[in-house]
Amino acid sequence: MNRAEEILEPGRAAAPGAIARAASTAELEELRRQFLGKGGYAARATEAIKDLEPPERATAGRAVSEFKELVERSLEDRAAALEPESGAGGGGLDLTGGGHGVRRGHLHLVTQIQRELEDIFIGLGYRVAEGPEVEDDWHNFEALNIPPAHPARSMQDTLYVRLGEPEQVVLRTHTSPVQIRTMEANEPPIYVVAPGRTYRNETLDARHSPVFHQIECLAVDRGITLADLFGTIETFVKQLFDDESLRTRFRSDFFPYTEPSAELAVSCIFCHGSGCRVCSQSGWIELGGCGMVDPNVFVAVGYDPEEWQGFAFGFGLERIAMIRYGIDEIRTFFDGDIRFLAQY
Ligand code: DAH
Repeated sequence: MNRAEEILEPGRAAAPGAIARAASTAELEELRRQFLGKGGYAARATEAIKDLEPPERATAGRAVSEFKELVERSLEDRAAALEPESGAGGGGLDLTGGGHGVRRGHLHLVTQIQRELEDIFIGLGYRVAEGPEVEDDWHNFEALNIPPAHPARSMQDTLYVRLGEPEQVVLRTHTSPVQIRTMEANEPPIYVVAPGRTYRNETLDARHSPVFHQIECLAVDRGITLADLFGTIETFVKQLFDDESLRTRFRSDFFPYTEPSAELAVSCIFCHGSGCRVCSQSGWIELGGCGMVDPNVFVAVGYDPEEWQGFAFGFGLERIAMIRYGIDEIRTFFDGDIRFLAQY
């Protein structure tokens, strides 16, 4: 070991540990001065080189360079480790800095409407019923007094899972089969609502979708009349649209499973009947169908139509959402664009 290396030796031994223990950037600057500054180890060793024999000078020069590199590297490492500490008190972790946050999702608009409706009907003493989305011919059609030749069965409307009578299997075209399943499994009186997905053989466009949602209502008891149907509908639409001045309109219609049947409309929630874009200037918005349960339906499920009466209605959930929020494209519910969904 030559004279220059002798000078470097204690510095080489001390530098990495001393630098790693430094607690601040100020301390690092102080250590840099000690090891590399004027009068420091590197400077004194360089000074000693000129007194060495020429063959030793190259070795000594390399030793000084290596020492400088060692100190620089140690200083850089320690500075990087101290970096995040600069903002706050200590420990290298700034607890006051806040996080990136977690984006919270929420229920889909249709699910929100569904739950709201469930709540309203539960408040009226109803219970929520469910049925399968893949349904047999009996429940979707036959028991609902829809004969085989009825247009609702034509290939245009129904999505078939298995063809052929009577074991035909379909994707339910409405929530009305849940009426049948509920009555088959329970004795009257019955007060249920059945929300859920329904399917039709439609091409997706602004107004049509092969999958959509409906809610069905069924009340069966002794002495039920049309007045009960009207009163129930009026109560729930006022709650749903949060508007006491809302009016309902019933116009004669036909459904095989109700007699008499009616089409249900409410006064437009935007113009209150004077006519606007949403209600196509009519002042009314159609919601769905309703009526008194047809005696043939009671017979199909084994109820005595002389003893029991009932009403039923059904309508689309997307339609409710579209009316309430002025949405004019049904496909926006299903294409999963978060920018649309996040608004509701
Ligand atoms: N199922 C009918 C449809 O999909 C809606 C409907 C009409 C349901 C009359 C009913 C009802 O319960 O009584 O268009």
